[in-house]
Amino acid sequence: MKAIPNNLLISVCFAMHVSAQVSAQIEETNTGSILEEALLLKEHRHYAMIHAGDLDRGREFFLSESLACATCHTIDGSNASAGPDLSNIGDKLGRGDIIDSILQPSAIIADGYNLTEVETRDGEEYSGILKKSTAEWIELKGAGEVSARIATGDILNRHTSELSLMPEGLHLALTQQDLADLVEYIGSFKRPESESMFHQGTPNVIPQISKPIALIPFHSERHQFDRPVWFGQIPGEPNNFLILEHAVSRIWFLEKRAQGDKKTLFLDLGPHLSKNGARGLMGLEFHPNFRENRRYFLALHIYEKGQHIAFTVERKASADFKKDSGEPPRTVLRWNATTASHTGGGLEFGPDGFLYVGMGDTGPHEDPNGHAQNMIPSTLHT
Ligand code: HEC
Repeated sequence: MKAIPNNLLISVCFAMHVSAQVSAQIEETNTGSILEEALLLKEHRHYAMIHAGDLDRGREFFLSESLACATCHTIDGSNASAGPDLSNIGDKLGRGDIIDSILQPSAIIADGYNLTEVETRDGEEYSGILKKSTAEWIELKGAGEVSARIATGDILNRHTSELSLMPEGLHLALTQQDLADLVEYIGSFKRPESESMFHQGTPNVIPQISKPIALIPFHSERHQFDRPVWFGQIPGEPNNFLILEHAVSRIWFLEKRAQGDKKTLFLDLGPHLSKNGARGLMGLEFHPNFRENRRYFLALHIYEKGQHIAFTVERKASADFKKDSGEPPRTVLRWNATTASHTGGGLEFGPDGFLYVGMGDTGPHEDPNGHAQNMIPSTLHT
């Protein structure tokens, strides 16, 4: 397949055409100020939240050439276009989230649908949604039929953008009622409840249990944690636990005591905050001989120079097991993730004494490089 340079991708993309129209409109009416823009968004959002829409009109907008929704989204479950398939978006997102996806596409990017930007060795630039990838090539998709296959050997730089391919400013092409109609139409896409779904483990009706159960907080409410992702007992210490906080990348030592629980810092790796995708601490596993060698392993995901990188590092606890020893960590495994989402993070020692590392499925791309089965890591230390 012949590669398609970025400028061509953009010129054939209806969506970009819409953005151009929209910015022209802003200039003409001189409503370009950020405040007015924010107010307009708010008013559109509020109206569409509380007003029902007309399904037929919504369908017309969706299929219209000027809005171009259908050039980027399938609604038949095929997921053949650049944007996510919307056939069950009504199950996935509430009305407010659907409105936000249309009004501010880059505010929250659907998992795995960040824009990938590539620069080749001969100076061509491409951007699009990474749909397929093998060891030899990657395929980027734009609106409609636009797509480009780029040989991995030709790639000089590859970057995951924090922007959406979906154009901003679509609300300027829609009245408040138009938006309500469009949202009504999209929100009506729901997966049919069926027998087969029931057997796949998604019951239509969830029966209430006859004897209610109580959920009792494990530690005192005085201690709060910032998006905890992992919790476990320190081997051989029945009252002592570690808790991992995800994006802020801190580990807390929690001591259960008769006089009240106590929380102290075990390790602080500094924040790995990011708008999109999961970054920061993901998981922890103690060495099977932790009490003798104090070794433990961490899964850490970071974002560096437009690339999502997953690490497995080994560290050592202090002699009293109450904090990290401060000794330099050892990188056991490092690999560049294919996308910015679903990059795993579970660590577990098997009964065979091997450390098993969860690699993730890269979201909707379903692990195109087969990392989970047959990995060629960037670095592997034994
Ligand atoms: C140029 C391509 C393009 C066009 C045109 C486009 N979209 Fe999108 N859309 C995307 C991409 C890519 C995403 C995923 C990234 C994101 O969340 O912004 C997306 C995300 C969405 C989502 C959220 C999906 C999810 O699973 O969370 C909705 C809803 C949506 N679009 C609706 C629309 C509607 C309605 C229109 C027409 C008014 C439209 N889109 C036009 C590319 C496009």
